[in-house]
Order: sequence, then C-alpha cells, then structure tokens
Amino acid sequence: MRLFTALQPPGEVLDEIEQAIAPHVGRVPGLRWPARATWHITLAFYGEVPEEALPDLETRLARAVHRHDVADVAFTRFGGFSSAGRARVFWAGLSGDPMNRLVDSLRAAGRRAGAAHVDEKRFHPHLTLARAKTEVDLRPLVESLSGFSGSVWRAEAVHLVRSHLGAQVRYESLANWALSPVRRD
Ligand code: 2AM
Repeated sequence: MRLFTALQPPGEVLDEIEQAIAPHVGRVPGLRWPARATWHITLAFYGEVPEEALPDLETRLARAVHRHDVADVAFTRFGGFSSAGRARVFWAGLSGDPMNRLVDSLRAAGRRAGAAHVDEKRFHPHLTLARAKTEVDLRPLVESLSGFSGSVWRAEAVHLVRSHLGAQVRYESLANWALSPVRRD
C-alpha cells in the first residue's frame, strides 16, 4: 500500500486559503486544482509499504511522534515548485516551527519498517493546491497573493495516510498520533 504521514490543518485555516485562491481557481491555464478534501501537508512519503509491515510501521510512528512537541505554524506565502517561474506545483507554504527533527524521525521510522521510497530531500512544509503537467509561469499568481497572511495554528497530530490512486486520487487516514503537549514548568 502507498503510504505517507501528514498534518491536517484546521478547517478555519483552510477556509482562509480557500477564500484567498478562490478568484484564481480554474482560471490559470495549465493548472488543475485538486478538491479541498484532499488537502494535507506531507511530512514523510513512504511509497509502497508491504501490508505485513504496517503494524511495525505504526508502532515506530507512534513512538516517533510521541517524542516530539506540538508546533505553532502559519501559512504565510504561496509559491511554486521548483520555482514560481517554472512551476509544476502551486503551494501554500508553512512558516513557524520548521519540524525538521520530527520529519527526520518519521523518515527513519519508515526506513526501518521497510518502506520502498523515503525522501531524503530537504523538507519544505507545504500544502499542494494545484498541479500542472508541464511547467507554467506562476509569478503573476504568486504576486497577486503576496499580501496573504494566515492565522497561526497548532499542529497537534500526525496522520498516517494511504493513497488510493486512480482517476481521482483518494486519501484514507489509517491512524493518527498526538504530538506531546508543550510543557510549561
Ligand atoms: P505534494 O503535495 O508535494 O505533491 C501523496 O502523494 C503526498 O505525498 C503528496 O502530498 C505528495 O507531495 C507527497 N510526496 C512526496 N514525495 C512524493 C513522491 N516521490 N511521489 C509521490 N508523492 C510524493
């Protein structure tokens, strides 16, 4: 099964993004906009994981998530991968706690459980909003959204998600674990 771990931002925060991009959705040549129900922030991508490895992966992820604290973050900008001028992906980017240590732990848990493909690339926390088959120039779009500043929210849980590929990709949350509350002592 094809698996990844992700954050699920709160609905109010997604409302802000939805309102900001609404004037552009369906109006940028070459961009396809997945349904809001599919929006998420990928933390670690595992590719194919044998079904029999799932219990071990879940045990390792539970342990890894528990070792990290909740994080305060906000969507503060839009952009394109690999660049706004030559983009195949249009995204909303997350600022605040970088969560790099959490992502390293989640990647390590996947490798140890036998995941086929664990990204080693630098982590860029983002929410994919649209994709293009060929590179498009998104500089005007990104520029028109430059005044955006989303509310701060607390990332409190990590989800293990299964991708069901097909004409319409579908994501199924298999489990989730709470990050440790910030200790105030
Ligand atoms: P994206 O949002 O930047 O496209 C499910 O496919 C999720 O895993 C997507 O959110 C996707 O990120 C992410 N992902 C990371 N690496 C991937 C890869 N090599 N192949 C497919 N999806 C990947």
